[in-house]
Amino acid sequence: MNIKNPGATNMNSDLKTVILAAGKGTRMKSNTPKVLHEIFNKPLIARVLDSAIKAGAKENIVVVGHGAKKVEEYLSINYKNVNCALQKEQLGTGHALKVASEKLKDYEGNVLILCGDTPLIKASTLCDFINFHNEQKSDITVMTAYFDNPFGYGRIVRNKNNEIESIVEQKDADDNIQKIKEVNAGIYCLNWKTVGFGIDEIKNDNAQKEYYLTDLIKWGTSHSKKVCPYVIKEADEIFGINSRIHLARATKIMKERKLSELMEFGVTIVDPDSTCISPETTIEKDTIILPNVVIEGKNTIGSNCKIGPFTHLRGDCTIEDYVKLGNFVELKKAKVKSHTNICHLSYVGDANVGSNVNIGAGTITANYDSRTKIKSKTEINDGASIGSNVVMVAPVTIGENSLIGAGSVITHDVTPKSLALTRAPQKEIKNYNKKGENR
Ligand code: UD1
Ligand code: CA
Repeated sequence: MNIKNPGATNMNSDLKTVILAAGKGTRMKSNTPKVLHEIFNKPLIARVLDSAIKAGAKENIVVVGHGAKKVEEYLSINYKNVNCALQKEQLGTGHALKVASEKLKDYEGNVLILCGDTPLIKASTLCDFINFHNEQKSDITVMTAYFDNPFGYGRIVRNKNNEIESIVEQKDADDNIQKIKEVNAGIYCLNWKTVGFGIDEIKNDNAQKEYYLTDLIKWGTSHSKKVCPYVIKEADEIFGINSRIHLARATKIMKERKLSELMEFGVTIVDPDSTCISPETTIEKDTIILPNVVIEGKNTIGSNCKIGPFTHLRGDCTIEDYVKLGNFVELKKAKVKSHTNICHLSYVGDANVGSNVNIGAGTITANYDSRTKIKSKTEINDGASIGSNVVMVAPVTIGENSLIGAGSVITHDVTPKSLALTRAPQKEIKNYNKKGENR
């Protein structure tokens, strides 16, 4: 407990965020609003919001504009504590904050400003950033980073004392400014009480005729406000997405981050280049992931499993310890208990699979009725052995320790310890010849 500053143990208790997400995203060349483009099945805006919420934001104001309806709809379905502010015309980032400020009247705490197109920012970084802002008793804190290729970003201009003076946008930068490698992340923490009103004083006298939020820095320094830069260690975190090429790069960074985390934790990834694992998946120690595995959505995977090559988990899967999932096996909404093998060419969806179950090659759960569009469940209980090329037509339950003959189409529940098979008996025609005699 910090005696001098009793609130300091929970520094983020009074924190609201404003997420700028109204821009058109022209360079995406898409009918989908930029912030709804996805990385590992999650829209960019959701990745930013998740970090903000994890960092302690109690209320989030998202500035919407281009594709507002779609963005608002996504947010209202997936989040509480999110308020949208409509920026009808996109007159710049400064104007976007002004629109949001309507919802911040009488508020006196910190406002964390984020961009909806920088999905790699980590919650822990935001916490450090806000703590720094509080410790410094700063009025405006700006997150910055050093980029070898700073093209496109706003540049941080510092004075002789190394203090931040202003931010100059690429389009307004002369040759000297263009040489500056320190860039503006587009992430700020504002003491709303002391600087919130400054947003009303920003003008649009620049190359793009836009109201730049970055001009708040110059406003701050010329109004005796304390403006502090905060240099981020991992520059990747502030990578902003403006095109599909950027989207692919961000996906790669997120994937590499996840794979490193898993390997450091004790999971073997045989070929990181061909492996995709979503950030929402957890994997326990000593599990081996073979090449060409794709794991999407939220999943938990136990220890000592062997997954791949060419396995696809599509989300909502819970895999216990010592499970083997092999070549061309696809799982979706599946719970698989320990010591079960699903090794070749199977689809298991909307299913609970017990422990010590063996599922043969080419066996599937038929979970979807395309007429009614209803999905049904398959229960496969402990110790069951399902032969190759079996279709289990859901809803259906396969009892404990039962055996399903290869090639069967199972439409009725199977009682424990029984053999079920629907295969037509094998016929044999003796002395059969090419002309079809004796048929
Ligand atoms: C902005 C910063 C730049 C910084 C970069 C970091 C300004 C003027 N420039 O540039 O210094 O280096 O981010 O990524 O702030 N938006 C609105 N309404 C608008 C315009 C934009 O909501 O009227 C939103 C966009 O949807 C986007 C964010 O603000 O999420 C940033 O806008 P963008 O046009 O991408 O700015 P940059 O040119 O990248
Ligand atoms: Ca941008």
